[in-house]
Amino acid sequence: MELAVIGEGGHSKVIMDLIRFQNDKVKAVLDDKYTELVCHDDGIYRGPVASVPHLLRQIEHLKFIVAIGNNKVRKSIVTKLGFTKESYVSLIHPSAVVSPSAQIGQGAVIMAHCTINADAIIGNHTIINTGAIVEHDSRIEDYAHVAPHATLTGAVCVREGTMIGAAAAVIPGKTIGEWAVIGAGSTVISDIPSFSTAVGSPAKVLHCPNTI
Ligand SMILES: CC(C)(COP(=O)(O)OP(=O)(O)OC[C@H]1O[C@@H](n2cnc3c(N)ncnc32)[C@H](O)[C@@H]1OP(=O)(O)O)[C@@H](O)C(=O)NCCC(=O)NCCS
Repeated sequence: MELAVIGEGGHSKVIMDLIRFQNDKVKAVLDDKYTELVCHDDGIYRGPVASVPHLLRQIEHLKFIVAIGNNKVRKSIVTKLGFTKESYVSLIHPSAVVSPSAQIGQGAVIMAHCTINADAIIGNHTIINTGAIVEHDSRIEDYAHVAPHATLTGAVCVREGTMIGAAAAVIPGKTIGEWAVIGAGSTVISDIPSFSTAVGSPAKVLHCPNTI
């Protein structure tokens, strides 16, 4: 498969490795640090995100992945591009263990050594980062990010745009509201409100716009 990667920061480097592991081919890298679309010596087109229509005239059947770690920016680019879901690929590292009953959304990335267990639902344009565990019946909504080595035990719900920090753990059945942030290493033992930041063990809400 020929792929265009949107974004060329740290997260994108890991995605490009993942694409090579899958034996797919990076044909273009789009990032607004470039001013015009140019085909480089390595055969890869590089240009600004706005050059997508021009790129699609050069390469047919191109698929896309938005490789930007910031959840809000990732959503704004997907919204701006307005492509159908089928224009995006999902990428799963060969070392990840994914249950046959799990559902993986378009534009989602499942990094090395992740486990996605039975009946888990992974939304569109999500990041399940290195070594994260998403246990049975958990649901990760669109644009969320589960950072390296976080553990979501059974039937956890992570709503849209939320970031679960590295090595955090969430006990069974809890819901983390939309666009919330859970601090690295925190232990979540209660539901967390939308748009809040919660840290510590047990996690307590630090910032919550709804309560100011
Ligand atoms: C939660 C987080 C976003 C808070 O950032 P912030 O809003 O800038 O907060 P601050 O650094 O000002 O810290 C505010 C307070 O929370 C505490 N705190 C921050 N992060 C914490 C954490 N992960 N666990 C426990 N306490 C934490 C700070 O010690 C500070 O306490 P104090 O007020 O008693 O001094 C950040 O610390 C964090 O953990 N980010 C996750 C990073 C990550 O995992 N990234 C993955 C990349 S792939």
